[in-house]
Amino acid sequence: MACLVVLGTQWGDEGKGKIVDLLAEQASAIVRFQGGNNAGHTLVVDGDKFIFHLVPSGVLHQDKICYIGNGVVVDPEVLLSEMAKLEAKGIAAGPDKIRVSERAQVIMPYHQALDLAREKAKGNQAIGTTGRGIGPCYEDKAARVGVRMVDLLEPDTLADKVETNCATKNYLLTGYLNSEGIPAEPIIEQYLEFGQRLAPHITDVAVELDEVLSDQGNVLLEGAQGTHLDIDHGTYPYVTSSNPVAGSACTGAGVGVTRLEKVMGVVKAYTTRVGGGPFLTELEDDNGRWLQEKGAEFGATTGRPRRCGWLDMVVVRHSVRLSGITGLAVTKLDVLTGLDTLQVCVGYKTADGEVIQRVPASLKQLGACTPVYEDLPGWSEDITGCRAYNELPANCQSYLERLAELAGAPLAVVSVGPGREQTIMLDDPWS
Ligand code: GDP
Ligand code: IMO
Ligand code: MG
Repeated sequence: MACLVVLGTQWGDEGKGKIVDLLAEQASAIVRFQGGNNAGHTLVVDGDKFIFHLVPSGVLHQDKICYIGNGVVVDPEVLLSEMAKLEAKGIAAGPDKIRVSERAQVIMPYHQALDLAREKAKGNQAIGTTGRGIGPCYEDKAARVGVRMVDLLEPDTLADKVETNCATKNYLLTGYLNSEGIPAEPIIEQYLEFGQRLAPHITDVAVELDEVLSDQGNVLLEGAQGTHLDIDHGTYPYVTSSNPVAGSACTGAGVGVTRLEKVMGVVKAYTTRVGGGPFLTELEDDNGRWLQEKGAEFGATTGRPRRCGWLDMVVVRHSVRLSGITGLAVTKLDVLTGLDTLQVCVGYKTADGEVIQRVPASLKQLGACTPVYEDLPGWSEDITGCRAYNELPANCQSYLERLAELAGAPLAVVSVGPGREQTIMLDDPWS
């Protein structure tokens, strides 16, 4: 029996979906604990590509229960459509397979309207959100006016909440954000209907996870986004509105902290970021274009091209620190094949010339920093067929070993392609 957290150490899109799919083999339950359909987790199995936004990435395995925890913000329409798409492909997605916490917050149409209108109003200061209503939904949770999954099953409660919320949101939308208001009535009707359809899936996730763990089952907790998009620890305000760090797995799924045993940090072998915000190792030259094109770096949710740059180990080291990461899963190593020299950021030089190993909270201070690089030799051999560590070229092994040394955590998994089988396991993450 073990609880294993998988999370992103950078700005998201590290390849968490692929790693979760792999590790799910030995899990009884897979749980999303934060974020919402801002996530886009890609799996490639037998050449077939699947992108999940809300449904946990363990869903392709039979006999596993996939949970959406209380810490997630759920767009019911997206959840229903992901389940329908799975069933259309012959993959089970019924209530035995996919369950959602009665305490999870619901993304409402006014959340999305607010998200889009606010971003528009910010002009070139926009965060570059995914426009899915994530921020406004978490705001309502903190303001204690949010709609929870359980409310979709209680017509009076839902009607009360939606009417009050529509009044305040419409005031903001029309009076301040120069946008359209949204009538309450159709929302109430539609969301009650969503509630009817989702009712068999709605449950007390914390109670069920406790049962799984008591029956000696393994629980895999699937993070979304990345540590540097964390609302507390990321490059605020260019962050998402939840906590992708490991500690949040406990609150967002409802498992006790003493039950978490291992934390796997997923590290892309270089860095990408979607949306606005600081990115010290960003490349706007041929190397940047190489990573973007060879890595097919387009957002799995919005299709936006991802910004690309060298591996920033100050960022990764901070994630190891924040989440107590016990093993690293390094992905997309194959994308670096063919580059003569690889640069790795090992420190930040501040405006007064000091080299620091941490990310300053002030964006002004961070913006004044320049990356301190170490050069490592590249490799030219195709590594996509490697299935054992010693099959990797010597320079590739050196890159990985330096990465682990700088991170302060051991290597556990190396990924050399998008396919499930294009993986080298160095350690049994469940042992
Ligand atoms: P996530 O949000 O962390 O799950 O990551 P995304 O799915 O958004 O983005 C990762 C992308 O890289 C997906 O298209 C994966 O199929 C792909 N991918 C994952 N691991 C590897 C790898 O080792 N090599 C290559 N070339 N692609 C990978
Ligand atoms: P996965 O789980 C990459 C980014 C957005 C934006 C910021 C805030 O696939 O790694 P939001 O819509 O959350 O309010 O947007 O966060 N962002 C992601 N970037 N991967 C993600 O998820 C992301 N989820 C949100 O681009 O900069
Ligand atoms: Mg993604």
